[in-house]
Amino acid sequence: MATKSGILSLEPPPYSDAQPSTRRSLRRRRRLVGTLLLIFVAGFTTLIHLDAIGDFVARSAPTTQDAFSKGLDKCYETRNRIGQNDRSPSKDRQNLRWNAITGQQSLIVIKNATLFDGEYTLEGAFDIAFESGIIRSVTPTTANEEAIDGAHVINAYGRFVTPGLVDMHSHHLLLPFPGLSAASDISERPLMGPITPFVRALDAFKPYDPAIKIIASGGVTSSLILPGSANIVGGEAYVVKNLPVPGEDGEPVVEELLLDHGLPETSRQRYLKMACGENPKNIYHNSRLGLAWLLREHLEQAQELRERQDAWCQAAFDIEGASFSKARRVSNFLDAQGKRPDELKLETSLALLRGELNINVHCYEPEDFESMLSVLHEFGVHPQAFHHALEAWQVPEFLKRLEENITIATFAENGLFKAEAYDANLRGGKILNDHGLPVAFKSDHTGEGNFAKYLAYQAAVAHSFGLPEDKSLQSVTSIPARSIQQGHRIGYARAGYDADLVIWDDHPLQVGATPTKVFIDGRDVLGAVTNSIESKINNLEAVGVQKAPAVRPTIAEELKGHICASTQNPRSNIVFTGIQKVLIDTPLVSTEDVEDYVLVVEDGQITCLGGESACLSEGIAGGFMKIALEQGYITPGLVAFGNKLGIQSIPSEGSTGDGKTGSAGDALNEEKRVHFAKYGVHLHGRAFTRARIGGITKAVTAPLFGGGIIQGVSVGLRLGENATILDGGIWKDDVALHLAVGQSAKGDDTPTVSSGIERLRQLLQAGQIAKTESDSVYAQAANGSLPLVVEAYNELILVKRDFPSINLIIYGGHGAPFIAKPLADAGIPVILTGNRGGPTSWEKKNALVGPPQTEPPAKILLEAGVLLGLAVASDSKVHGLAQEGRWAGKYAGLSDKQAIALVSTNIDAILGTSTTLDAHQGVSGQHYKGDFVVWEGDPLRGEGSVVLAIQDDGKIADCWPDTEDAVL
Ligand SMILES: *[C@@H]1O[C@H](CO)[C@@H](O)[C@H](O)[C@H]1NC(C)=O
Ligand SMILES: *[C@@H]1O[C@H](CO)[C@@H](O)[C@H](O)[C@H]1NC(C)=O
Ligand SMILES: *[C@@H]1O[C@H](CO)[C@@H](O)[C@H](O)[C@H]1NC(C)=O
Ligand SMILES: *[C@@H]1O[C@H](CO)[C@@H](O)[C@H](O)[C@H]1NC(C)=O
Repeated sequence: MATKSGILSLEPPPYSDAQPSTRRSLRRRRRLVGTLLLIFVAGFTTLIHLDAIGDFVARSAPTTQDAFSKGLDKCYETRNRIGQNDRSPSKDRQNLRWNAITGQQSLIVIKNATLFDGEYTLEGAFDIAFESGIIRSVTPTTANEEAIDGAHVINAYGRFVTPGLVDMHSHHLLLPFPGLSAASDISERPLMGPITPFVRALDAFKPYDPAIKIIASGGVTSSLILPGSANIVGGEAYVVKNLPVPGEDGEPVVEELLLDHGLPETSRQRYLKMACGENPKNIYHNSRLGLAWLLREHLEQAQELRERQDAWCQAAFDIEGASFSKARRVSNFLDAQGKRPDELKLETSLALLRGELNINVHCYEPEDFESMLSVLHEFGVHPQAFHHALEAWQVPEFLKRLEENITIATFAENGLFKAEAYDANLRGGKILNDHGLPVAFKSDHTGEGNFAKYLAYQAAVAHSFGLPEDKSLQSVTSIPARSIQQGHRIGYARAGYDADLVIWDDHPLQVGATPTKVFIDGRDVLGAVTNSIESKINNLEAVGVQKAPAVRPTIAEELKGHICASTQNPRSNIVFTGIQKVLIDTPLVSTEDVEDYVLVVEDGQITCLGGESACLSEGIAGGFMKIALEQGYITPGLVAFGNKLGIQSIPSEGSTGDGKTGSAGDALNEEKRVHFAKYGVHLHGRAFTRARIGGITKAVTAPLFGGGIIQGVSVGLRLGENATILDGGIWKDDVALHLAVGQSAKGDDTPTVSSGIERLRQLLQAGQIAKTESDSVYAQAANGSLPLVVEAYNELILVKRDFPSINLIIYGGHGAPFIAKPLADAGIPVILTGNRGGPTSWEKKNALVGPPQTEPPAKILLEAGVLLGLAVASDSKVHGLAQEGRWAGKYAGLSDKQAIALVSTNIDAILGTSTTLDAHQGVSGQHYKGDFVVWEGDPLRGEGSVVLAIQDDGKIADCWPDTEDAVL
């Protein structure tokens, strides 16, 4: 029995059971005493050969025969394992995870669903019936009017139903919420070296991880949980269902979480995690040269053992087949060859060579794919998926040639964080799919930055950047399910599949789409949902559009050249037609929705916005560039707050940034401790391109935080295509003093959280005393002329009470919803990064996770009257700020104008940087005062592209930044 997966059997051991069980682990076998009993047990897997060798077993010496039959047993097992499992879907399958006590009790029918079945969205409405954890039937709604006896009927009112989503790369259970070092077991490193195929992720699973349910609440019902990427071969991985405590006893038991729970161990699919590139290189200080060699050396060892094993088995099969003198031949054979060569440490690697493992390889860059495939192919090994693979879009044909159907399991937008992720492309998914490669999106879940809960949103982002609707939905359902070789059970909503189903409140590719119900094995996972979701479930009125959003438009390079050349003249006059939505505050138009309005821009100022007759009758003639839009939108210029834009390009590469402020030295020593971002910024990099296509015209960037409470003084940057530091690239030298309190702010001078708050008070006191020194940052912070941005998850209201003149702003703000009213009363605004956050750390352990489980933080703060802005923590997601506004606006019931204000004018209002009329001599009160952006398509729903961005000084910042071939 070569398997060493050692999964704890939850059934009685076979020797105490009347029914022979094939589920026997090596561990249990070792416990068996008595040769006869052992032979008895071993025989069950290979009944045929037990008969054949039965007569000599009785006559020869027990130890010899025992070694031979044990070896032979393993030989048979290896031979039988290949291709033994039936992995085709079948209508009358049973769900072996189901149990009679806590399993789905009665038939459930979801009526009148718009069904994406894993491959396509079916025409018409459907009823989906499921029982005992299995989908029994999918039938057109009209053909099935009468109620089914005893069935629990859920009316979907035409809402979207999809199969449960499949995340083929997660790390929850290995690193439960809230993160604690004691519970963090991701990679086995570094003591056992960079090659650890023999370790198993399930040995570190924490089956009580609160993330299980949170992830399920995003519709993600199955996850492949892989060891981390520190090691070239990282160990075995396992697919789980995100159903907490699913067993009969309702206890947190790892085995019961496994997708394959209930299947005999030998029938279970095995998975391996491998990695290449920066992670193993950095951890073991090897170069890529050494990493490739170490893998070859290891596979060579395994290959050598495999050959010896195969030879032994071949000889053993021959002897077994002989008709006489078996006992003598067996002893001669064992004298010459010894027992079957085996090594527990190499067992997984042998399975790898024999093609028994589903291989998932973390690699990012073209040269890494090439090197990895060349080594693996040398040993006849074929991986199923490259993971992360952010630069695979550069070599789709190469990948196809070498591994025809390899799945690229990647991120829709997460990127730029290290050198091998810097050439990521927001159209990567589209490009790979255009070349015929299967594309899956996956979370890499460790926390908020790659939250598995929002897997569906990755499909939405990829769709927005051109991946077709059906492929986008497949990318989080059937494609990952097939890649992990479970396409016969999950990833589809068809008869015979596991009853993992999600009912959505809108088309699942719409921004903000949220499950209203999630079933796993036919069981309702969510239970109680928050009021705003509950009210939707049985409300016909609350059904969303049920239509996929449009892909954002792009423009051909030549056309861009044509349009943009004529707008380049700063004095140019432009007429836009086809404006349908006005999301700026202007006295010219009072409603958001307008029909085919005309926008006239003269000298960078809006001079007319209205019907054609009003705006085009004013003698507008020759000198105007006319741009005809279909779905024209006008929004304020968006503001990116707190990102690394301009201060650091690649977080893992110190040389690409300004450097960190550090935590040493006395925080009260302003001259030494307070640094200014304005001296360290540059205006280029990938994140700038992403920001520009997101309609962001301004960024507020602070120095890089290196611990301690002082981060430094932020600068206001312009993101225009041709802005330079010398020429308009900085719109405000000093925007705010940035501090941090809490765990991240522990440093040399402030070793505790409390000492950080003490220091904050002391520096404000020092600032009050130093009132007369006009250039003192602390003095300006103390009297409120320089805003004080404090990154904090918890309350700071007391500081504001004691220093009422400070202009205190909370950044981060996961804890803010709990004190929303006092914050509003104290006039403390919040710039929230945690609207789609979670309880990732102890400090944030009560953080609200948002719909469908709780109300979203933004809604609570807005309803309490807090002045609110939104920010995204990762530079790579900065292009999605408008959609972030929509996520918040959807549940807070905001108009689109109010939603877009959260990521634009509200940030200015919070920082006191709103453009005032005084700054523009001679501009009439009718004129809009601030940056504005003209879009084609709806920016909040990912359907829009920037056509023109115009700064408050009238300069054109950007013109069609997203062209057809742009690498974003
Ligand atoms: C299904 O739902 C849609 C949308 O709510 C509704 O118009 C239609 O009448 C429903 N059909 C049936 C058969 O209930
Ligand atoms: C790739 O997938 C296609 C379609 O399923 C199949 O016909 C083909 O045999 C596969 N190729 C390989 C090398 O597995
Ligand atoms: C705040 O203090 C700074 C520095 O002393 C000074 O220049 C500024 O005029 C003060 N502003 C207010 C509103 O008191
Ligand atoms: C930036 O400069 C380039 C080169 O002169 C020009 O082609 C482009 O149109 C300019 N962009 C804007 C927004 O003015």
